[in-house]
Amino acid sequence: MGKRIHCSVMCVGCTLLGIASVATIVSLWTIQLLDPEDTPEKSWDKYRLPDTLLPDSYNVTLWPRLQPNKDGLYVFTGNSSMVFKCVRETNVILIHSNKLSLTKTNGHLARLCSLGCNPVPTIWKTWLQETTQYLVIQLNGYLQVGESYQLQTEFEGELADDLAGFYRSEYDENGEKKIVATSQMHPTHARKTFPCFDEPAMKAVFHITLLHPPGTVALSNGKETVSHSETKEITVDSTAVIQTKFEPTKPMSTYLLALVVSDYSSVSSQGETLIRIWARKKAISDGHGDYALNLTGPILTFFENYYNVPYPLSKSDQIALPDFYFGAMENWGLVTYRETNLLYDPVISSNENKERTATIVAHELAHMWFGNLVTLRWWNEVWLNEGFASYVEYLGADYAEPEWNIKDLIVLNDVHRVFAVDALASSHPLSSKEEEIMRPEQISELFDAISYSKGAAVLRMLSDFLTETVFVQGLSTYLNTFAYKNTVGTDLWFYLQRAVQANGIVLPRGVHEIMDRWVLQMGFPVITINTSTGELSQQHFLLDPESVVERPSEFKYEWIVPVNWMKSGVVQPRTWLLKKNATNRDMKTSVGQWLLANLNVTGYYRVNYDLDNWNRLLDQLSKDHHVIPVINRAQIVDDAFNLARAKMIPVSLALNTIKYLSHEREYMPWETALDNLDYFYLMFDQTATYDIMQKYLKKQITPLFSYFRNLTSDWMTIPAGHMDQYNQVNAIRVACSTGVESCQNLTTNWYQQWMDNPDHNPIHPNLRSTVYCSAIAAGKAEEWEFGWQMFKKASIASEADKLMSSLACTRDELLLNRYLSYTLDSTKVRKQDATSVIVYVASNVVGQSLAWDFVRKNWRYMFTEYGVGSFSFAKIIGGVTQSFSTQHELEQLLQFKKENSGVGFGSATAALEQAIEKTQANIKWVAENEREVADWFTNETA
Ligand code: BES
Ligand code: ZN
Repeated sequence: MGKRIHCSVMCVGCTLLGIASVATIVSLWTIQLLDPEDTPEKSWDKYRLPDTLLPDSYNVTLWPRLQPNKDGLYVFTGNSSMVFKCVRETNVILIHSNKLSLTKTNGHLARLCSLGCNPVPTIWKTWLQETTQYLVIQLNGYLQVGESYQLQTEFEGELADDLAGFYRSEYDENGEKKIVATSQMHPTHARKTFPCFDEPAMKAVFHITLLHPPGTVALSNGKETVSHSETKEITVDSTAVIQTKFEPTKPMSTYLLALVVSDYSSVSSQGETLIRIWARKKAISDGHGDYALNLTGPILTFFENYYNVPYPLSKSDQIALPDFYFGAMENWGLVTYRETNLLYDPVISSNENKERTATIVAHELAHMWFGNLVTLRWWNEVWLNEGFASYVEYLGADYAEPEWNIKDLIVLNDVHRVFAVDALASSHPLSSKEEEIMRPEQISELFDAISYSKGAAVLRMLSDFLTETVFVQGLSTYLNTFAYKNTVGTDLWFYLQRAVQANGIVLPRGVHEIMDRWVLQMGFPVITINTSTGELSQQHFLLDPESVVERPSEFKYEWIVPVNWMKSGVVQPRTWLLKKNATNRDMKTSVGQWLLANLNVTGYYRVNYDLDNWNRLLDQLSKDHHVIPVINRAQIVDDAFNLARAKMIPVSLALNTIKYLSHEREYMPWETALDNLDYFYLMFDQTATYDIMQKYLKKQITPLFSYFRNLTSDWMTIPAGHMDQYNQVNAIRVACSTGVESCQNLTTNWYQQWMDNPDHNPIHPNLRSTVYCSAIAAGKAEEWEFGWQMFKKASIASEADKLMSSLACTRDELLLNRYLSYTLDSTKVRKQDATSVIVYVASNVVGQSLAWDFVRKNWRYMFTEYGVGSFSFAKIIGGVTQSFSTQHELEQLLQFKKENSGVGFGSATAALEQAIEKTQANIKWVAENEREVADWFTNETA
């Protein structure tokens, strides 16, 4: 130790010329033998870092300029010194760097210093390798195993409005333009902020310093070392700035770094952990941060208990940003959000907004442990990180809002949602091979419904069959064992298995073996139960049974399936299906008895029955549906509609499951039915079937509409229950769209009252999206124009969002085209919202082809100009093609693929394949089912 201090840091720039030149001569000789350029593939052409160097710490100073420079550009400057250790001999240093311009010293883009007494090799040459995003430093000698070195860089980057890396967000405050410098490093943008080993396993300690204008506040992962109110000004380059230093972070991955400079204010509470919510001053003074503040304490406590690990940091900051690509980002200690997701106004926000805030805060805080404290080694297993957070967000939110019954909603929001994608032959397994995920766009593509929703669903299933006690016990040892380190997914299975054994739980197979079937092969099974024989079987469920699955599976598309079930309302002991077929005599039913499997949909699979059992279930639904648990009422509808699409049951049987809805008042079955009918609407929107469907749905919704009218004393109040509030919205939305007259009058009147008095909006926040949409659809240019003005004026993001979606409801093509064109003008529609607007327009029958034309025309431009962080191309493709069901549309889609193969599809590559497959399936489905569907609706409305 003493020796090290004595030798101190020596920089190449400072070493004696003589030593340097001797080294050069020696190394010139070695280079000829060991020049890495001789190797067939050069290390800097590979996307993964070599295993030669490990970072230890970074000392980074950054100075974002909140005023444009003389060229009108916003920039940031910075310097970094990184300490790293050599673990395998090498003469080349690769460090990620993207879109940074590095300052040269002594003719090189970096300086290398020693931390020990050994001489440091001199730098031979340095350059930026653009495709792989490296700064390459070739040395005239070798770095020694076990030695530590220091690498220094100085750089400048653009503080662009591209929502990636260190970027700029803008907003207007009383007519004044305000700039926020903020960051989004995840997954691969830290390298756009400073040169770093930008891979999740390269954990290091970060010492961050920010320079920023007087009057602004700087935030980062660590707590500021001097409180914000006591900072002092210093002068740098003859400019007065504040220098804010932050406490060193814990060892962490680069993707979790965060930096923000703003003139925001905050609300806070100081318990064991300092909790602060940051936002625009007006939002804070209006109390919009209060709900998030009140949630955070309980949610942190919940997770501390759940994980049995204390919150690892001294503070928890959460901040709302006007421009933000994602919904939220779990930077360790400084979580960033879209404004809509963090801010809540009791007067203006809806119950949906409130729920979103609760679940998203819970999701991001869950990552503070699972993901941040313990991090998966590589992105190929990101499903475990996101799936886990997407599962436990329900538990955290439920703890904070126990009245909502929110845990049930995972079935609609995640399980049913992802079944739709995972039933395609073009789906993919949860986990990919490490070597398959290399390039940044391959990484981005992994953040899809499979990772989030299937991930959440299979973990929920696992927690259910292990029991929650065992699940959290294993989880807790996993987190304690790997704190501040990296893991692979099987590490979790290992600790869960230990907990299984410790608790004497009996499973038919080990956790690892069971989970491999769900994680390593795509798709899910449909379990068919024959209640006359007690036979069970499983089969890979594909929406289009004729589609060819090209991806082989080592498990032959068989799963180890836990089956929770009941007989005529009485819960039975869990059984397991371990192979393709089995018989369970208890599953035979006697006359009048029905069997229901996958109770509460804790299993990630669908269920089919013999026709008799289906009919007995239908009978029960029509006699007294309450005997069947509410989640399973939703399941019966969802399974039946999808089994019909896969031609496993007749479509009329599926339609029979919604007959009982005239007596149903609960949200989950209704929402499921409406979702499934949406598919019919998408398929038949240009045909005569559409009108009979409308007639039928009008008949079915009318009792629900009346029910809510009575419950709310003629719409004067709002139902008490959270789910009832959602179902009230459904009642109004569908009643209005199917032409229940009193509904249209109601919404048009409300909107008119608001137009007459824009300062007083009489519409309840829960109902606004629906009412705006219905009034704008029924209205003309005047209604749209008013909506647009209110959108531009809205100072609350959640209100702006409601108007933003409703503006796409107009039936006027000119307006829709105008609205589409605004998505390429960020002064009209923020970049973060552009994709959503295109998808909203595409969801409108009138806008569908307009949106498709728009995307085709502008693909090249959007793709090249909005490439980095601002467009979700996958979302656009999925959105504009959702109703495709004709040969002509399929040809257009294939043509589009061909024409743009040069430009590419980036993160939308898989989405495009899915769209093609879905279109083909739709074409067939319409041809085969239109008659039967039309006959059924005609019959029911006769
Ligand atoms: N880590 C993600 C955000 C993210 C995803 C950043 C992909 C970069 C690439 C974060 O934890 C997250 O999952 N956010 C979600 C919200 C969540 C509640 C589902 C999002 O942004 O949609
Ligand atoms: Zn997440």
